Amino acid sequence: MHNDIQEILHSEQEIRDKVKELGEILTRDFEGRNPLVICVLKGAFIFMADLVKEIRVPLEMDFMAVSSYGAATKSSGVVKINKDLDVSVEGREVLIVEDIIDSGLTLSYLIDVLERRNAKSVTVVTLFDKPSGRSVDLDADYTGFTLPHAFVVGYGLDYAEYYRNLPYIGILKPEVYSK
Ligand code: PRP
Ligand code: MN
Ligand code: MG
Repeated sequence: MHNDIQEILHSEQEIRDKVKELGEILTRDFEGRNPLVICVLKGAFIFMADLVKEIRVPLEMDFMAVSSYGAATKSSGVVKINKDLDVSVEGREVLIVEDIIDSGLTLSYLIDVLERRNAKSVTVVTLFDKPSGRSVDLDADYTGFTLPHAFVVGYGLDYAEYYRNLPYIGILKPEVYSK
């Protein structure tokens, strides 16, 4: 285990099993819908890569980069689009792939943008959910794991851009970000 990690919450194997399970459910639910699967960069890139291999229906992918945390452990409350989609969502069945929902601000902003651009439907899958952090009333349609109230990193999630490459999800030692 990495020296800055206090506790592993879900191991690489546990995540692998969960991603497979979500993929099977999404395969069933998106049959015949030709979804546009949107990866919310940067955090969701590992989940996206693993998940789409388990969704066995024809689909299109696109990538959007939004951020609100920067190098802080609390959301700034302002969501910024750093890279927009390449394709139009008009009339499309959109599946948003997120790594984590915390305050819900990123997702509520994103859903609003995609609905204003006339997506036919907007569905959300998140690997992790931290319901204790919510400041807007919003839930994913599909959730992998529910996490306790702690600052977590790994499997795509960062602190100041580091730790995304850890293959598991774990709690970051508070002394790492309080100094
Ligand atoms: C993180 C995470 C989610 C969002 C969740 O992204 O990847 O996208 O915050 O938090 P919220 O529900 O409070 O909005 P971040 O802004 O850190 O950008 P990143 O994905 O590039 O790390
Ligand atoms: Mn993110
Ligand atoms: Mg981040």
